[in-house]
Amino acid sequence: MEERTFICDNISVNEDGHLCFAGRDVLTLAAEYKTPLYLFDEKKIRENMRRYKNAFAKYYPGTARISYASKACAFKQMYRIAAEEGIGIDTVSCGEIYTAASAGFPLENAFFHGNAKTDEDIAYACGAGTGYFVADNTEELIALEAEAERLGITQKILLRITPGIDPHTYEAVSTGKVDSKFGNAIETGAAEEIVRLALSMQHIALCGYHCHVGSQVFGEDVFERAAEKMLDFAADIREKTGYVPEILNLGGGIGVRYVSSDPEVDFDGIIQRLCSRIVTCCEKSGLPLPEFIMEPGRSIAADAGMTLYTLSSVKKIEGFRNYAAVDGGMTDNPRYALYGSSYTVYAAGRMNEKTEEKFTVAGRCCESGDIIQKDVPLPSGIARGDILAVCTTGAYNYSMASNYNRIGRPAVVFVNEGGSYIAVKRETLADLAALDC
Ligand code: LLP
Repeated sequence: MEERTFICDNISVNEDGHLCFAGRDVLTLAAEYKTPLYLFDEKKIRENMRRYKNAFAKYYPGTARISYASKACAFKQMYRIAAEEGIGIDTVSCGEIYTAASAGFPLENAFFHGNAKTDEDIAYACGAGTGYFVADNTEELIALEAEAERLGITQKILLRITPGIDPHTYEAVSTGKVDSKFGNAIETGAAEEIVRLALSMQHIALCGYHCHVGSQVFGEDVFERAAEKMLDFAADIREKTGYVPEILNLGGGIGVRYVSSDPEVDFDGIIQRLCSRIVTCCEKSGLPLPEFIMEPGRSIAADAGMTLYTLSSVKKIEGFRNYAAVDGGMTDNPRYALYGSSYTVYAAGRMNEKTEEKFTVAGRCCESGDIIQKDVPLPSGIARGDILAVCTTGAYNYSMASNYNRIGRPAVVFVNEGGSYIAVKRETLADLAALDC
């Protein structure tokens, strides 16, 4: 048989014609753990973390580290792995901080983001010993200064700066433009103002700057332009105030491939060019090399995940559309409904059959927009009971799942060399009603 290529090297087909993930037959996993099911490849998560660490070590002459953006996928096992791999985490809520702390993650390596932190958030995160706040606005800074004074601590912070860069990704994840809800624009003078405010505070230690231009960015020179803008800004502020940042955090990581038409990512090339741009900018302005941080989420978790569903019904509407309806849907993966995101879908038990028909894979929610993917080529004989696998679902699926229609969230199962284990249990009917009074 001809050699098949898959979008990720942890996907293969065995001699029975079954789809395998991380070397395991997914039909066996589906039978053991039931569906819908989130699968995770532990080795791939670790490899993805190390890929950044290794590239930084190779291409950045100063100190560099990564901080896993846990919004991509947040449960205890992810935080344990981040801790074991010796990387930081980016959190955006008390829920993420609490989960990380419960998993034993050392919070001094955590960054706390968010554009609308409440007094409770600030008190909780400060009290828990969160390493850094990424302060977004003046009101937050004032509240944080008051809380740090009350606790008698000095809270380390980065300031969220908006460099005014269009990352050319989809609007919902584009954050670096001047009109963003996040951060302080350089262009309007807001960034300079908030730096001055932070520097005037007694219980705040300004450690540097943060920006995030968007997610699912495929490089070109987006990260480089962001770095240059940020370092120009840093040089300007040094000129005006004498302040020199120790840290430059450029936000989220590199985009991932969901379908074979997505561009191949030149991972090392992007990091190499970015590192050398930072070095060049610093040489030009005489700034010392900052500690360089990136906060990848998607590129850590996405291709380490796969979702399995059981097919409930096949409806062929002659002359219109074929539907393949599954036992999950927008409750476990809202990304097509929200962004029209692309995914690669397979009939896991029929990998050697021809895929001569197209099917729209629909979820089980009472809503027509509950679609996982439109027009997926699948074998025409697919039938109730078949397992459908959706690839690259490790990022922003479990973390964006909901209980719409009072549907329970699927279990999360990790696969590693030793076998498989449950990382998050399936929600039961009792769980769904547990908070009702
Ligand atoms: N840092 C900050 C401040 C962020 O806002 C984000 C993503 C990241 C890091 C991680 O970016 P990544 O490496 O994952 O590209 N729900 C959307 C994605 C929203 C991303 C929000 N921020 C989706 O499903 O595509």
